[in-house]
Amino acid sequence: MERMITRASAVPQVGDVLELTVGEVMHGGWCVCRENDTGWVVLVRHALPGERILARISQSTARFARADAVQILVPSPDRVAPPCPYAGPGACGGCDWQHASLPAQRQLKAAVIAQQLRRLAGINLDVPVEAVPGDDGGLRWRTTVSFAVGGRGITGLRRHRSHQVIEVSECLIAHPLVTAAGITGRRWPGWEQIEVAVAPAAGERGILLSGRARLGPQDLAALPADSVQAAGRGGARTPMRGRGYLIQRAAGRDWRVSLGGFWQVHVGAAEVLAAAVLAALEPLPGQTALDLYCGAGLFAGILAQAVGQTGRVIAIEADAAAFRDARHNLRDWPWARPHHGDVAEVLGRTWLGEASIAVLDPPRTGLARPVVDLLCARPDRARPAAAAQSGAAGPSFLHRIAYVSCDPATLARDLRLLLDGGWRLDDVRAFDAFPMTHHVECLAALSRETGARR
Ligand SMILES: C[S@@+](CC[C@H](N)C(=O)[O-])C[C@H]1O[C@@H](n2cnc3c(N)ncnc32)[C@H](O)[C@@H]1O
Repeated sequence: MERMITRASAVPQVGDVLELTVGEVMHGGWCVCRENDTGWVVLVRHALPGERILARISQSTARFARADAVQILVPSPDRVAPPCPYAGPGACGGCDWQHASLPAQRQLKAAVIAQQLRRLAGINLDVPVEAVPGDDGGLRWRTTVSFAVGGRGITGLRRHRSHQVIEVSECLIAHPLVTAAGITGRRWPGWEQIEVAVAPAAGERGILLSGRARLGPQDLAALPADSVQAAGRGGARTPMRGRGYLIQRAAGRDWRVSLGGFWQVHVGAAEVLAAAVLAALEPLPGQTALDLYCGAGLFAGILAQAVGQTGRVIAIEADAAAFRDARHNLRDWPWARPHHGDVAEVLGRTWLGEASIAVLDPPRTGLARPVVDLLCARPDRARPAAAAQSGAAGPSFLHRIAYVSCDPATLARDLRLLLDGGWRLDDVRAFDAFPMTHHVECLAALSRETGARR
């Protein structure tokens, strides 16, 4: 039975219901409620700033509680009816902002970016969140979806902060080609996860199955996919049908991307980010460019075309399949060379004195500290005669960075370190590459002057 908490001294227990006024949004899709009379901090989902709500406690610690808004007493003008029936307290954890209008979602993300930049980097900057073309009012954009398989083989998506599988008939943010694979609404006993990835321009679909079950010839024949693979322990893959990769299209070219490899999930994001990286770096013929965390080599490829055959591109990627994709995708530009390995380790043994520009696109955890240190190192090593005679335009030391990030908190942390290391922040752009969720993609442009010293 629910317990309504009204006394200031009572510590909220899981299941208790509190009446709260919702405060500012924070990183991760939560809003903060600070009750003056109690001193508690309650992090609430399914609410919007300014609302008066009833919230049910889902977790309670000595320092704070988490809660779900279960009744909206005074709604925000930004509140809308969630298009997805699985969004809400206790339901699917995939989307955070289905109950906010699309413009309001972008304002919430902009508020989080400004907050993280201010708190973690000491930077006061308002960054509007730009729409990414290709979605349908924030729906039907996701080209890769990992469906979870629960008890008795039901398929769906995981409940928020839980392993429990919520059975769904359709995920509304999934691209229609994903939905047409028909993974949901069927039983998949013995499987744990089924990842569907699609390449809309090529009309291709791939399925990556994880689990202990076996696919019989009839099951395989019934799977509507060009490529099917089974994922084993330690990342081993068993090809079951097709080439094992999809052909994605962006920046006027095709890119091979292996199943399970990284490609921007929003149908329009690779195109938008490729243009934004070029705009931030302004590459010139003859320059040497770095693409750190290069995935299938999208940015390395567009930089290779811009610097031309008198230039060089050094691309680094740790994942073996993505590295092989990058090697394949960059084959038309022999002056673009992918390296396989950890960025810190490869950079540590690569002579960087010639590199002029760099794009960094690390995973959510951001840059490892040795990578920051290398990027901040003094550009004081002698320029070899060959480089001096190459006719490279512009300064021949690392003087421009485009930092692409899917996490405003680690971006802000790393920006502070880069600014302390002699870099200057010129611009930050943000893109709504994950509508309906709290996630957002940012691109920070940094530069440093000739003679910059640490
Ligand atoms: C966010 S993705 C960027 C991919 C690419 N820039 C793109 O836009 O398609 C990050 C990539 O970094 C790779 N990665 C993660 N940690 C790494 C590390 N320590 N060293 C090298 N690559 C790493 C991942 O395998 C992944 O391909």
